[in-house]
Amino acid sequence: MKGRYFIRSFGCQMNEYDSARMADMLTEESGLVEAGRVEDADLIVFNTCSVREKAQEKVFSDLGRLKDLKREKPGLVIAVGGCVASQEGAAIVRRAPYVDVVFGPQTLHRLPALVERSRRTGSAQVDISFPEIEKFDRLPEPRAADASAYVSIMEGCSKFCSFCVVPYTRGQEVSRPFDDVIAEIHGLAVQGVREITLLGQNVNAWRAPIEDGDGQPGDFAELLRFVAEIDGIERIRYTTSHPIEFTARLIDAHADLEKLAPHVHLPVQSGSDRVLAAMKRGYSSLEYRSIVRRLRKVRPGICVSSDFIVGFPGETDADFEATLKLAEDLEIDTSFCFVYSPRPGTPAANLPDDTPQPVKLDRLQRLQRLTDIQAARINAEMVGSRQRVVLEGVSRKDAAEFSGRTGNNRVVNFPARSAPAGMVEVLITEARAHTLRGELLTEPRNSGAPALQ
Ligand code: SAM
Ligand code: SF4
Ligand code: F3S
Repeated sequence: MKGRYFIRSFGCQMNEYDSARMADMLTEESGLVEAGRVEDADLIVFNTCSVREKAQEKVFSDLGRLKDLKREKPGLVIAVGGCVASQEGAAIVRRAPYVDVVFGPQTLHRLPALVERSRRTGSAQVDISFPEIEKFDRLPEPRAADASAYVSIMEGCSKFCSFCVVPYTRGQEVSRPFDDVIAEIHGLAVQGVREITLLGQNVNAWRAPIEDGDGQPGDFAELLRFVAEIDGIERIRYTTSHPIEFTARLIDAHADLEKLAPHVHLPVQSGSDRVLAAMKRGYSSLEYRSIVRRLRKVRPGICVSSDFIVGFPGETDADFEATLKLAEDLEIDTSFCFVYSPRPGTPAANLPDDTPQPVKLDRLQRLQRLTDIQAARINAEMVGSRQRVVLEGVSRKDAAEFSGRTGNNRVVNFPARSAPAGMVEVLITEARAHTLRGELLTEPRNSGAPALQ
């Protein structure tokens, strides 16, 4: 097949990683090139998300817009992957008959073959099976686009929180083998990547044998120590971590490994023990507080961001106040706050959704306001400090400026005569509402690996 592809990614970083792998495959295996606009594509792929009802409905309304495109261009192939595909399967083709291919997160490596078969036979192809570990074995080596890259180290989730679809759409937790993870990161470092983000729904649940002689299965904390040894990698992030897997060994890793970014995204969901139990999260608010306090003890100033759900069935004003108090006591940074959305097939969907919508929205706003104020305070405290920043490219607002990310996950814009590469040092001069401004202090450090072109 020759022509152009267009991929649209919805949802979390795992979907973004998967979309990048699809792009690699379509380029290398199918000989396609990327289309700048959806209208110019011969193959359109939607990589979808079903975590909340709104996310899922957005997929169907955006798909609806492709109907006319398909009528004008009969050879156009439309493929739907990701979590909606995994959950709905052939029902997608029934609801949107102009869709040609439906594939799941675990069968994305079969996308080129499914597209080919649908073109040959003229009939829709659906494959949402779970051949688990096959996926990573069949994907081409990732191409680095920037100084920062994602590396998926886990698939699926076995936690079954009572509100969440992910274990059903992505399957059980499976860890990628140690050697594969290290080889992928090494390959990225050689291409000029300076910062990597290890990805998984519960990234700190990673467990796999490590050939270092003790015969014990390795854990996430140990994996981090090996990743930190890779030449060229200067900063390590991971997301999303789960409090029940946040071991003392992981806290020790934060004490010892300077390359670990001073930021952790650790979703708490609620500050009320009653709600946490109903959510089946497996920890108490005290346990969560203890993790954050121990982290701050070994890494003073580490920023902790979180995910919260408001309006979970049965959440009272007192439960919500406990959430606000936890967020305030722990000075939680910019966070993702969501109104509870009942998902079909999850246990919580059977509970009475009894909080009035205006109350839910009020709670959402109060929590968002609190975390925004706390994030702004952290920004203001950074003025005058020197920060090591990983380059992200030209600033979105001003083409004469460049944009990068600090260790604690802030975007900083700064002027520079030419594009600096990799990691640079910046003096923070001003805190704005959501970004920082700075001045370039150094040229990139020579870390032994080639700089990005
Ligand atoms: N695995 C991560 C964890 O356990 O925290 C997060 C995974 S989920 C893809 C991202 C966030 O979406 C969750 O942390 C939760 O706050 C939110 N979420 C998941 N299901 C939801 C639902 N039914 N309604 C509202 N928000 C939801
Ligand atoms: Fe969903 Fe819970 Fe798994 Fe996170 S840990 S993906 S919230 S089931
Ligand atoms: Fe959405 Fe699936 Fe990620 S439901 S948040 S794309 S794992």
